[in-house]
Amino acid sequence: MSKNITARPVKKAVFPVAGLGTRFLPATKAMPKEMLPVCDRPLIQHVVEEARQAGIEDFIFITGRHKELLEEHFDYQAELEATLEARSKTALLEKVRESEIPAGHLFCTRQPKPLGLGHAVWCAAKIIGDEPFAVLLPDVLMKGKESCLKQMVDVYQKTGGNLIAVEEVPRAETNKYGIIDTKDESLAIMPVDGLVEKPEPAKAPSTLSVVGRYIFQPELFEYLSAFETGAGGEIQLTDAMAKLIGKQPFNAMRFDGKSYDCGSRPGFIEANIAYGLSDPEIAHSVKEVLKRYA
Ligand code: UTP
Repeated sequence: MSKNITARPVKKAVFPVAGLGTRFLPATKAMPKEMLPVCDRPLIQHVVEEARQAGIEDFIFITGRHKELLEEHFDYQAELEATLEARSKTALLEKVRESEIPAGHLFCTRQPKPLGLGHAVWCAAKIIGDEPFAVLLPDVLMKGKESCLKQMVDVYQKTGGNLIAVEEVPRAETNKYGIIDTKDESLAIMPVDGLVEKPEPAKAPSTLSVVGRYIFQPELFEYLSAFETGAGGEIQLTDAMAKLIGKQPFNAMRFDGKSYDCGSRPGFIEANIAYGLSDPEIAHSVKEVLKRYA
């Protein structure tokens, strides 16, 4: 396998949205988890916007059954736009238009069974071809002054290879996350020596967790295509990532901001509070509501 140090631009991003979202049942019985709204837009739109701000041009959704709404959301809605225009609702019309993905830039491919995140990413192999690409998990929102993926692209232009975003977690909670092994965890950008899934606090090689944003070289697909099952009987992305370490540059970047795990109910509620408090139209009302629960 060749060492890939030149930073070819990242123009394609994969959004795995084929999971069952069981932690949100029955809300996710017929509606995709990724369509749950945080503030005024669904999770998937927050993440597509993050990717757009990083210069991503092509958006690849890995979908499954009952996921058609996700495509609809980014489509041109003629009737709605005509009605808003006729009513001179310019600001709303602008918001609706911003949520569209232009013709020829949205690619949807199916993952017939939710066999795991690694398998979902593998489903994009033909569309990605021989290019570096980003992966963004739509149930994790990254809130910072600047788009997390944009921060990563800026770093990637200097480092090349593979790059993942990491965030500090309390040592007592390392057993909930994928944790990186690195020689110097005080650095902003650090070479990754290994990845450990949910280590017990005493055995965790660091307190830096992997948070759902990745830039990969296409060689990742060579490992994913082995379809090896790992933890939980699923084809794990982490296992294929671990095999790239040592063969290509593999770095971690401390994300400047905060992540919200919207795949869990408490994380989702916290994200709604945080995004509500940052929305000038409703921040005051949200503060008033919170006072009543203090
Ligand atoms: P999660 O494991 O958080 O999502 O996967 P899930 O399986 O849908 O949720 P729960 O645990 O049952 O509540 C992270 C992302 O990867 C996608 C999911 O849709 C989610 O956006 N995913 C996961 C796939 O696309 N395919 C899979 O086989 C697994």
